[in-house]
Amino acid sequence: MSCENVIEIKGLVKRYGSKTVVNGLTMSVREGEIFGFLGPNGAGKTTTLRVLTTLTDFSEGTVSVGGHDVAREPKEAKAIIGLIQQQISLDKDLTVRENMMQHAIMHGIPAAERRERIERLSKFIGLGEYMGSMINSLSGGWKKRVAIVCALVHEPKILFLDEPTVGLDIQTRRLIWDLIRKLNRGGTTVFLTSHYIEEVEALCETVGIIDKGNLIAFGTPRELRERVGSSTVEYPGEDHKTVYRHFSSREEANRFASETRGAAVTIRDTSLEDCFVALTGKTVEGGA
Ligand SMILES: Nc1ncnc2c1ncn2[C@@H]1O[C@H](COP(=O)(O)OP(=O)(O)OP(=O)(O)O)[C@@H](O)[C@H]1O
Ligand SMILES: [Mg+2]
Repeated sequence: MSCENVIEIKGLVKRYGSKTVVNGLTMSVREGEIFGFLGPNGAGKTTTLRVLTTLTDFSEGTVSVGGHDVAREPKEAKAIIGLIQQQISLDKDLTVRENMMQHAIMHGIPAAERRERIERLSKFIGLGEYMGSMINSLSGGWKKRVAIVCALVHEPKILFLDEPTVGLDIQTRRLIWDLIRKLNRGGTTVFLTSHYIEEVEALCETVGIIDKGNLIAFGTPRELRERVGSSTVEYPGEDHKTVYRHFSSREEANRFASETRGAAVTIRDTSLEDCFVALTGKTVEGGA
């Protein structure tokens, strides 16, 4: 594998009819890192992830995952990746354990190992008492945990998660973060999309921001902050709208704040959320 890039995307274009939804995307993800893909609704995150996981074809470019060209070697690529999709798909007519077994069989896990792996993963994720329950009887958060075990049962080298913690309570979210960290420490590369900036801040070493199919920023959270300006001044503007100004140093921010005659001026470090808004002109939820 060249220069430890486990994912290489070059000039990726994906069109639906005349609509271009990924527009010449070029980026790479290094082996062993947790990469966060951010962008407003409809930016092209899921589409990119579906291309990387061989679920959809693409119009132009080259994409390689774990050294396998996804167009020419989809089977080889598929064997080393795990995927947790935005919409969970589990067999509702089976129990939790049966769903996991089905995945293990599908991935060719030897019979002797299936049960041990499933029990180990389920225990870690706290599913123990639900193993015999029907999928339909579980809430969304518990279904997500089952989907995670299913995606991990073949011990993938690269794990893709599309908005892994949407709609989950705080405890479950933290548990999933811990699981992601634990897998990553064990050598798994993680590619996740998220609308939760705090999730990306908590987990990701490298971040890509996509907007309308174009990669508009790529780097460590720190590099993104420095690009926008590492100090932020926040104050009430007209019509009660909060104004955010970014500065490259705390001194500049202090100077600006002392000149601003406002009641509530706050000076603070620039957050990743500030970067997202400054670079895309949108809030994380996609509003203007
Ligand atoms: N099967 C399809 N046919 C036509 N257009 C599609 C299809 N799938 C996605 N699109 C369009 O592609 C664009 C990108 O969608 P995508 O699902 O990749 O966005 P996203 O960044 O994941 O958004 P979200 O944050 O809402 O999940 C959208 O405009 C969407 O309407
Ligand atoms: Mg999506």
